[in-house]
Amino acid sequence: MDEISLYWKNATADAVSDKHGVTDKDLKDLAPRIKQIHQQMTADRKAGKLRFRDLPYDDEMIGAINKQVEHFRDRCEVLIVLGIGGSALGNIALQSALNPYTYNLMSDRTRTGPQLFVLDNVDPDQIKAVVDLVTPRLKKTIVNVISKSGETAETASQFMLFRDLLAQKLGKKYQENILGTTDPKGGTFREICKAEGYRTLEVPEGVGGRFSVLSAVGLFSAAMCGIDMEAIMAGAAAMDKRLKDADVMKNPAALIAAIHYALDRKGKHITVMMPYSTSLYYLGDWFRQLWAESLGKKDGLTKKNVFAGQTPIKALGTTDQHSQVQLYREGPNDKIITFLEVERFNQKLAIPAGVKGQPSLDYLSNSNFQTLINSEKLGTEFALLESQRPTLTINFPRITPETVGQFIYLYEAAVSYMGGLYEINTYDQPAVQLGKDATYALMGKEGFADLAKRIEAVRKRDKKYLV
Ligand code: PA5
Repeated sequence: MDEISLYWKNATADAVSDKHGVTDKDLKDLAPRIKQIHQQMTADRKAGKLRFRDLPYDDEMIGAINKQVEHFRDRCEVLIVLGIGGSALGNIALQSALNPYTYNLMSDRTRTGPQLFVLDNVDPDQIKAVVDLVTPRLKKTIVNVISKSGETAETASQFMLFRDLLAQKLGKKYQENILGTTDPKGGTFREICKAEGYRTLEVPEGVGGRFSVLSAVGLFSAAMCGIDMEAIMAGAAAMDKRLKDADVMKNPAALIAAIHYALDRKGKHITVMMPYSTSLYYLGDWFRQLWAESLGKKDGLTKKNVFAGQTPIKALGTTDQHSQVQLYREGPNDKIITFLEVERFNQKLAIPAGVKGQPSLDYLSNSNFQTLINSEKLGTEFALLESQRPTLTINFPRITPETVGQFIYLYEAAVSYMGGLYEINTYDQPAVQLGKDATYALMGKEGFADLAKRIEAVRKRDKKYLV
């Protein structure tokens, strides 16, 4: 199996100075804490408290997903996923990493599964465009509603729309075109699934949204679209084996956390993930949620007002060399940048011989796009190094289900070590609730009238500040 690797020299003090890089002493000082965190995580895992770490070994879950894939695959031309946050970002990341850029535009014969639309917003223009597209093909449209709670306004509203559409067009049998992925036992959506007789898959108990991509949440749509989910899980399991050591120097997830933590202490409050691969770009979105929701915490486990967290940004190489790199080199030195690099793309793709009479383009002649994109990555790494900006590189020998599975598992574990270092609860997201409640209040949900009144003060625009 191809193995992803981490190169971290250019984040060290030797490469970018003591002020901006991680020193041997930084890592030595963190080593005992990492060891302790590792031991705690091992104990928590044994006690069943870190279920996401065991997902790669859950054959029963894979069996259940395969059963639904077999049931739906032959009669599905369009798959619509309704979900948001942790119920959508993994699906998008897997699909864009592992299927061609033009997947949805390919003919039914060449595509490896149904067209896929993941509607992770409530933008009426976007939703209507998809409704118009699928209306003539509703019989062959399957809607996978993913919501652990069933209470999320975005997913619930979309579900209501598509349920209505399917019921209108397909009559009583409409429920055969819905698959619910939800809490195994309770919650609003589980009740609806039971009452209306939908087929269901489970969001595993104890697995939060942003840690759920390696479950039915992320894997059903992947498998429907021809992605080898068993290979993703084999990759994740292979990474798990590489994370057994409590020694920070021998455990890539712990090392990623230690470097980020040490550099955060040195003012690198921003972390940029910059794949030099369009396919891997949406792993950046998935990573943003993982890092932001897990680590952005006001209170620590024992201390108040710690205001932990690093702001995750995504950028795309080479595109953002022409948009962001000016800032990354000459703006505040407050970032650590992680490149995702692909050694061998599926296509090298030759650049043909040059344009006659234009010797300035000769350097491109008879080269190929793989060499060009990787040269640009190395060039940017060098340019950032010259400006003493710390960088890491995750190397993908190739983009395969196995390497993507390794990457996901690596960062899920890394964020756990990082949360341990910050001494926070990595797995909750208390600050998300107020915005959700405010939406309930503004949309007139019972029990939120007082909050609605408080929000009215914000609705009222103060003319003094209106231009
Ligand atoms: O990571 C999380 O917990 C969130 O992003 C949730 O996944 C998101 O809010 C959707 O929640 P639900 O699955 O309950 O609809």
